[in-house]
Amino acid sequence: MKKIAILTSGGDAPGMNAHIRAASRAALSKGLEVVGVIGGYSGLIEGDFIKLGRKETANIIGRGGTILKTSRSKEFFMPGGRAAAAERVREAGIEGIIACGGDGTFHGAHAFWLENKIPIVGTPGTIDNDLYGTHYTIGYDTAINTAAEAIDRIRDTADSHGRVFIVEVMGRHAGFIAMDVGIACGAEYIAIPETITNLDILYQRILKQGKTRRTIIIVGEGDEHGGAAKISELIKEHYEIDAKFTILGHIQRGGSPTVRDRVLASHLGVAAVEALLNGKTDVMIGRQGHEIVYTPLEETWTRQKAIWSYMIELSEILA
Ligand code: F6P
Repeated sequence: MKKIAILTSGGDAPGMNAHIRAASRAALSKGLEVVGVIGGYSGLIEGDFIKLGRKETANIIGRGGTILKTSRSKEFFMPGGRAAAAERVREAGIEGIIACGGDGTFHGAHAFWLENKIPIVGTPGTIDNDLYGTHYTIGYDTAINTAAEAIDRIRDTADSHGRVFIVEVMGRHAGFIAMDVGIACGAEYIAIPETITNLDILYQRILKQGKTRRTIIIVGEGDEHGGAAKISELIKEHYEIDAKFTILGHIQRGGSPTVRDRVLASHLGVAAVEALLNGKTDVMIGRQGHEIVYTPLEETWTRQKAIWSYMIELSEILA
């Protein structure tokens, strides 16, 4: 293998730049040529490649977003799009690809490998932390710290006014962000897609606050009730309680990555290059504890990464 490509795809996540830096520097140190793909799979289809040398990856380790840009390419989800991408890759002499993203990215990478037999490995880059095969994903730690800081601010005003606040955090199908942030911010109730949200219990928790009613409820966006706006509406309707709601949204995706994210991104970047050089393909490079673990791409979405059940218990004890 003489030349590899790196791309970022799907929702951006803080730490992706640290990952690009680490993977390209690891590859350069092994004598490989490295290119970055601009705009994820869309750039692969268009053959939009840039050289990644030491200079191009200097001073990016602390930057949020991704210098390579990203996309959710619909075309790449069609066999024709993937065939066009394979042609561009072969023309450019690229012999291995590192695709950093979430389950959508891995679906694409898996199909690309099956159809074209061009080695491709995935690295977990998503704030949702919802990929089986790795304890943490790149971007998760930054996102939960960003969310926690925002919620602490909301608590100040909730406390001053004695109000009920419902705060929605990201996590399309998974409650990892909600659970960790809820515990860290002392939430009175945490609503996540993995458990049934019981509005009567939620109401009891508000009452337990006494006269001030100062309550923080964290809702994962994938909750079965449909998010913070809906839950606030239901509380008003059923219990005649006024609840303000806040959707933290994309603020959770930006910002300078935490040290944990930078280190994880760096470790996985180096491991991804070693994996390609060792002939691995169609796997995700994850980390469990301090160990690098390879999981077939398909398993990262067919097997469910469960929330540690004790966290649910803990949140109830503390509520
Ligand atoms: O997968 C990361 C994520 O931020 C989810 O938490 C969220 O549901 C989704 O992406 C939002 O995607 P987009 O920015 O494309 O609307």
